[in-house]
Amino acid sequence: MFVVHRIRDFGMDGKTIPGDGVVTGSGKVNGRLIYVYAQDFTVFGGSLSAPHAAKIVKIMTLAIQNRAPIIGLNDSGGARIQEGVESLGGYADVFLQNALASGVVPQISMIMGPCAGGAVYSPAMTDFTFMVKGTSYMFVTGPDVVKTVTSEEVTAEELGGAETHTTISSVADGSFNNDIEALIELRRFLTFLPSSNENIAPIRKNEDPKRRIAPALDTLIPENPNLPYDMKELILTVADQNEFFELQENYAKNILIGFIRLDGQSIGVVANQPMILAGCLDIDSSRKAARFVRFCDAFDIPILTLVDVPGFMPGTAQEYGGIIKHGAKLLFAYAEATTPKVTLITRKAYGGAYDVMSSKHLRGDANYAWPTAEIAVMGAKGAVEILYRNELNDPEKIQKRTTDYEERFTNPFIAAERGFLDDVIIPNNSRYRLIQAFSKLKNKIQSNPKKKFGNIPL
Ligand code: HXC
Repeated sequence: MFVVHRIRDFGMDGKTIPGDGVVTGSGKVNGRLIYVYAQDFTVFGGSLSAPHAAKIVKIMTLAIQNRAPIIGLNDSGGARIQEGVESLGGYADVFLQNALASGVVPQISMIMGPCAGGAVYSPAMTDFTFMVKGTSYMFVTGPDVVKTVTSEEVTAEELGGAETHTTISSVADGSFNNDIEALIELRRFLTFLPSSNENIAPIRKNEDPKRRIAPALDTLIPENPNLPYDMKELILTVADQNEFFELQENYAKNILIGFIRLDGQSIGVVANQPMILAGCLDIDSSRKAARFVRFCDAFDIPILTLVDVPGFMPGTAQEYGGIIKHGAKLLFAYAEATTPKVTLITRKAYGGAYDVMSSKHLRGDANYAWPTAEIAVMGAKGAVEILYRNELNDPEKIQKRTTDYEERFTNPFIAAERGFLDDVIIPNNSRYRLIQAFSKLKNKIQSNPKKKFGNIPL
């Protein structure tokens, strides 16, 4: 707290404020050690000088050494303009620690004010970034510079407010209504995370019956396979106390990610959402889920994958945008993940997306399906239109072909016969079956071939 800057130019001589714009230290959240830094916008706009950076680096180093999460409460105008290159060096020192801490201890950024320039890159390197609605901004360059360079007129809110970063850019994983809610939710979020890659997440005493039957799940899937249903209902129904900490709720809504507990154990959930784009995988949803799978795997948080996916999204927009490479991110992430993986197919698991969504072939530990599951290369209609193109002018024949295809492939039993599924389970009993599956995986040991690291298609 006694640290001051050493800048002598631009009238900064004699303008020193103890702490130099950042409060750093350690403390306990729910009884567990964390390291935290909080920037103070009232001191030189929270801007980062070399000593300010050194204070942050100091607690990051301690957090890595002592295996405790790093929390940043960010509120900074970026590099201290009066200091020059020393401040850029300070930023790089922080970025380096961000990279070294990655995969060792969880790093969380809470953006609580305007953050510009270097102040947004450190959060971008952390595992999760949250924002406060209406008072926090993140941009590489502010509205004035944008106007000068590109002639675009844009407000700070439009350029880098919480709405922008939770719906358009996906830079932020969530946002909160005010500072108090943000800090309370941050503490709740921490309960799902281990302190480091050498600890497990805290096990909460479970008050919710393990064998809780949920009759509503028996009728969750509509009779008509083309009608949507809300996958969130399944997540909330199986979770302890119906608690789901959802991440990136308003971005790529065709996939859901977040944390639940099953019998007290923290579980990462990845689930297709049939309500949006029929739950298909596209660029945004693949990227969203891939990063989450990698976080869970890095910290050995088990992953529950709920599957209802008609395939990858077709079209020029997706192909030109690189769906091949982005879809491969999710495939790669699941394939290399050695954390416990339990998969439940509720309805469609078509084509490449069947493989991707934590299939048995990618080392799914327990792969289940409901009786309503349809596992096939594609839907019956599409398949018949390709296989029997020359019969398309005969609707009766086509109808028969479609029914034949449906009976043969669009059920879980062919996959189960091959051992690609471990069981076909009754929907109302899903909670208990998932709890059982994860409890048997508590001591799982699996490793990949020795390597420096894999080359995920970034
Ligand atoms: C020194 C700064 C500062 C900075 C703000 N202040 N940013 N001082 N260095 N980077 C000071 C202001 O001079 C002002 O001082 C006080 O903080 C409050 O700032 P305001 O502008 O009055 O606040 P507000 O209107 O809320 O605007 C916030 C802001 C804006 C959007 C963050 O201040 C801004 O655009 N700042 C500059 C952003 C920037 O370009 N940073 C450098 C980026 S380069 P007084 O004394 O008047 O109260 C960079 C390189 C790192 O970061 C690259 C690494 C990859």
